[in-house]
Amino acid sequence: MIPLMNLTRQYQNYERKLDEAALRVLHSGRYILGEEVALFEREFAAYCGVKYAVGVGNGTDALVLALLSAGIGAGDEVITCAMSFIATAEAIAIVGATPVFADCTKDTYVIDAEKIESRITERTKAIIPVHLYGQCADMDKIKTVAEKYGLCIIEDCAQAAGAEYKGKPAGSMGDMGCFSFFPTKNLGCAGDGGMIVTDNEELYRLCQAYRVHGSGENGLLAYGKEKKVSVDLEHLDFGGNLPKYFNFVVGYNSRLDALQASLLRTKLPYLDEWNAKRREIALYYHNNISNSKVKKPVCGSEGSHIYYVYVVEVKDREKFRSYMKEHGIATGVYFPVPLHLQKVFQELGYQTGDMPNAEHLAEHGTAIPLFPELKDHEMKKVADIVNAWEG
Ligand SMILES: Cc1ncc(COP(=O)(O)O)c(C=O)c1O
Repeated sequence: MIPLMNLTRQYQNYERKLDEAALRVLHSGRYILGEEVALFEREFAAYCGVKYAVGVGNGTDALVLALLSAGIGAGDEVITCAMSFIATAEAIAIVGATPVFADCTKDTYVIDAEKIESRITERTKAIIPVHLYGQCADMDKIKTVAEKYGLCIIEDCAQAAGAEYKGKPAGSMGDMGCFSFFPTKNLGCAGDGGMIVTDNEELYRLCQAYRVHGSGENGLLAYGKEKKVSVDLEHLDFGGNLPKYFNFVVGYNSRLDALQASLLRTKLPYLDEWNAKRREIALYYHNNISNSKVKKPVCGSEGSHIYYVYVVEVKDREKFRSYMKEHGIATGVYFPVPLHLQKVFQELGYQTGDMPNAEHLAEHGTAIPLFPELKDHEMKKVADIVNAWEG
């Protein structure tokens, strides 16, 4: 079977380095935050071209903590794309705000920037563009709308580590960028992991506060923000006790493990190479899949797509997937239900037909194998079998 993704091939290629990285942490006796995490935060911030990074438990938490740090909560609305993983909208709901959905485009599948402005109300506080499948949303248009209405932008970069838009790295264009290091991601760890990146020192400190129970000096800063009062950070005195035992706002326990940070530090230098390989395979598919019954994804001209997944559209998806399986090729669906039609959000009152592009993608889109370690003969077989599909 040609897999959709395969994590053991990557591990085998870097086994010695990854084993050493894991053992380094095991021997260190320091397993939560600490130097490995601090170093990875510095390296990842530099990679994204921003000043600060905060390592957190996973990509969902990254979004939750970013929203909290932006002061978003009950009564607020946040606009996001109807086609994404549930976490994008779930994070909005977790902080007590209401997700407001806009459709994706028909070809690039990212949020349709033209559909954002009409969704803005006096309650709108932020936009979460999702760089879906590894391609950046149209950030120039989104930033223009955000500036016009004074909205915060939180980029959901969970599927886009290393992607660019007009030469700017994903995560560096909004107020904050949120990443997931879920194992299958282009930069993945051996468990859960996530990161928030930002150029804004105050948001950086607030994210740090919410990541550890609203404690310490950053916790007091968050308290000042939440209560809209001035706080005296200069003369803070914990009486010789650990600051982490002084809590000012309700936060989370969401920290990146040292073990994950160590593995991610080992992998980060290879990320561009892996993404280039993904682009090479995507180009091969683009040039060699020539079946009129299979619609290929469109890469917008403004950015550098990193093909977290390569999604084609076919009329009868289930038939196509069975056909691929019979020929020994795995496929996947990202995602079968658009966010506005998820049962969990039924109370928001969206109907089938509200987001035609997202609904069409949810019904017809299917990912075919694409990962850096895919072998040439596998890639060729995938293209040949797709071309022989008769619909
Ligand atoms: C677009 C998007 N946002 C958020 C997340 C959440 O990340 P995590 O699974 O690390 O919580 C994911 C993960 O798959 C994702 O694809």
